[in-house]
Amino acid sequence: MDKITTTKLKEMKQKGERIAMLTAYDFSTAKMLNKAGIDVILVGDSLGMVKLGYENTLPVTVEDIFYHCRAVKRGNSRALLVADMPFMSYEANKKDALYNAGKMVKEGGAEAVKIEGGSEYFDTIRAIIKTKIPVMGHLGLTPQSINQLGGFKVQGRDEEKAEKIISEALELEKYGVFALVLECVPEKLSEAITKKLSIPTIGIGAGAACDGQVLVTDDMLGLFGEFKPKFVKQYANLGPQIIEAVKNYRDEVKEGKFPSEEHSYK
Ligand code: KIV
Repeated sequence: MDKITTTKLKEMKQKGERIAMLTAYDFSTAKMLNKAGIDVILVGDSLGMVKLGYENTLPVTVEDIFYHCRAVKRGNSRALLVADMPFMSYEANKKDALYNAGKMVKEGGAEAVKIEGGSEYFDTIRAIIKTKIPVMGHLGLTPQSINQLGGFKVQGRDEEKAEKIISEALELEKYGVFALVLECVPEKLSEAITKKLSIPTIGIGAGAACDGQVLVTDDMLGLFGEFKPKFVKQYANLGPQIIEAVKNYRDEVKEGKFPSEEHSYK
């Protein structure tokens, strides 16, 4: 299968071919996502919640994403590999943003970075794109702004906020963003944006009209049991299966059943 690039994603939109994106944080998951034909792998800052046990994504550092991105890179061959820019890795000034985005690509093996937010970061996003690093935008519910948004809530429900998201999406496209994540917005809004843009939109809790969809892999596999947002469809429930397997192992060890001859050297 052909390597997925930012150009290929735009072609997919033109052809009406949907884009399937998931998150990964380690080598073995990246390998499985490749085997399953996933188009885009995101080393998301969701890492903080589903793997590191934080309450939200704010404590995730550049080093966290960088470390996990390198592991994913080793397991990835076909998907476009995108590294999330974590909270405070790009907000304070352009110089930090360029350095951190550069690190993700130069040493982390990412092929693009994702940045949450709109007009406040246009200048920074333009500067990163100018250094030849592709940027994926992220509008709607931007979890790094949780303290300003007052929780994980649907965004763009009223006309004024919807108009703001539409105009920011158009600006981001103008500045050269290659794709746009729309998180937790009404379907009508994501449909309008998808029609207006020539770059692909990737929805999460944004309905079916987007050019692609993204989910957090741990959510869709039933590995993260803390809570389940309405937009998550569980394609498997691996958590209970893992607990069962571990219980079986524990019991067999305690009963002296494992290892048997089959798993022992003569
Ligand atoms: O961090 C993440 O996993 C994300 C996706 C949910 C889009 O930003």
